[in-house]
Amino acid sequence: MTGVLAHSITYALIGLEPRRVEVEAHLQSAIPSFAIVGLADRACQEAKERVRSGIASAELEWPRRRITVNLAPAELRKVGSGFDLPIALAILGASGQIPRERVIEHAAFGELALDGRIRPVGGVLAVAEGARAEGLERIVCAAESTPEAELASVEVVPVSHLAEAVAYFRGERDPPPYGGRNGLPPEPVLPDLADVLGQERARRALELAAAGGHNMLFAGPPGTGKTMLGRRLPSVLPPLSREEAIEVTRIHSVAGVLHPQQPLVSAAPFRAPHHSASVAAIVGGGPGPRPGEASLAHHGVLLLDELPEFARSALEALRQPLEDGTISIARAGGRALFPARFQLVGTMNLCPCGGRGDPAAECSCSPQRIGAFRDKLSRALIDRFDLVVTVPRPRAHELEVERGEASAEVLPRVLAARDRLAHAPPVRTDAADELLSRAVERVPLSARGRARVARVAATAAALARSERVEVEHVAEALAYRTPREIAS
Ligand SMILES: Nc1ncnc2c1ncn2[C@@H]1O[C@H](COP(=O)(O)OP(=O)(O)O)[C@@H](O)[C@H]1O
Ligand SMILES: [Mg+2]
Repeated sequence: MTGVLAHSITYALIGLEPRRVEVEAHLQSAIPSFAIVGLADRACQEAKERVRSGIASAELEWPRRRITVNLAPAELRKVGSGFDLPIALAILGASGQIPRERVIEHAAFGELALDGRIRPVGGVLAVAEGARAEGLERIVCAAESTPEAELASVEVVPVSHLAEAVAYFRGERDPPPYGGRNGLPPEPVLPDLADVLGQERARRALELAAAGGHNMLFAGPPGTGKTMLGRRLPSVLPPLSREEAIEVTRIHSVAGVLHPQQPLVSAAPFRAPHHSASVAAIVGGGPGPRPGEASLAHHGVLLLDELPEFARSALEALRQPLEDGTISIARAGGRALFPARFQLVGTMNLCPCGGRGDPAAECSCSPQRIGAFRDKLSRALIDRFDLVVTVPRPRAHELEVERGEASAEVLPRVLAARDRLAHAPPVRTDAADELLSRAVERVPLSARGRARVARVAATAAALARSERVEVEHVAEALAYRTPREIAS
């Protein structure tokens, strides 16, 4: 059987990893029909309607032939609407409406609207990186995706309509350069530590957490400012490095949560999923699969407010990323890997009714209820909080101050400590070492617990601009180990 064949090139994402997909359009002289093959999911089948309608709307000719589009390799699962544009280009190439040899010099990625407009699709950065890695120098994508695709150092051909892409490939005219949106991205206003009155110990712990990247848990009666404190951690974190920013942007893009006016995520992300969130919402999953909250919090903060309210399965699923900073999701064709190196902040009451630990309230919980409440949090999970801070009801005089120290005053100390930890980490004195060894037996501490205390002690020393980790620093770190109130 004879016919004409044309290709276009795009990338499917396995997790964040781009895999080359060749879109082959085969046209035969037979009764007109249109089929897409190659393990396409439903969105891909819907592509048929959009591609047909988009080509008609661009006043191009829909070939009256038997059209077969094959997405190869077939075993690769292809999800999403980004294949629309490459499918349309392959068909237009096969029917001689645009030069075939030019199409394959480009990667293509974008969704077609029924009227032929091209819409941005999440994941452009990872797709552009795939093109770049294979030496393709240009990507044709939605105009709005331009700043994001450019982060991969590829040349972007920004198209707003299929007709623009066609004119470009025919060499008639270049698409208009993407001018960006009007106005600057909104300056994010982070909640500030100045709002927190009193709670000196909790504020100190927050500063340690910011400086050392430690996980922390606030425990105490309701209304004492636990949530308030947790939400203020991002305000004392340094901005992301360029490399971290690209990594975070790649994840946020695939998840479709990138702010359109801010292609590069430059501040540490902050995610606070609700306690009703599913395991998949927290660690990722679904068709695709998509990154979850833990990955969206990569290089930033994951706040689990009211920790014991989360499904135990969701909390247990966080153990892998807490251990090695990655989440791997098994798929039919292999596994998808997502980075998830986040700083965990948890909050909790001391009992289900919240009265426990509150001098102004009476706890009405039975010992059984308290037991069940604690059982939700496995020892293994609690063990991963380097700083466990009890947040008491503040005394009246503590709340009389006008404002607390502002985040802008805390941040320079955090930055200096981080710098010291990175370049000249403080070394434990013999006496400090001895205290740590004694604590291992007395507390007792697991090997992991010991390492965590040692890290917090080093952070305390760095904040004190000390070259040595002294006894006092180890003592402070030990004071943040699981207090009696929440130890089961
Ligand atoms: N230390 C504090 N300084 C200033 N306001 C506070 C403080 N603690 C609590 N509040 C006020 O109480 C509200 C509830 O605090 P929240 O952080 O939600 O408490 P929790 O999470 O401990 O139940 C806050 O929005 C804030 O207005
Ligand atoms: Mg709260």
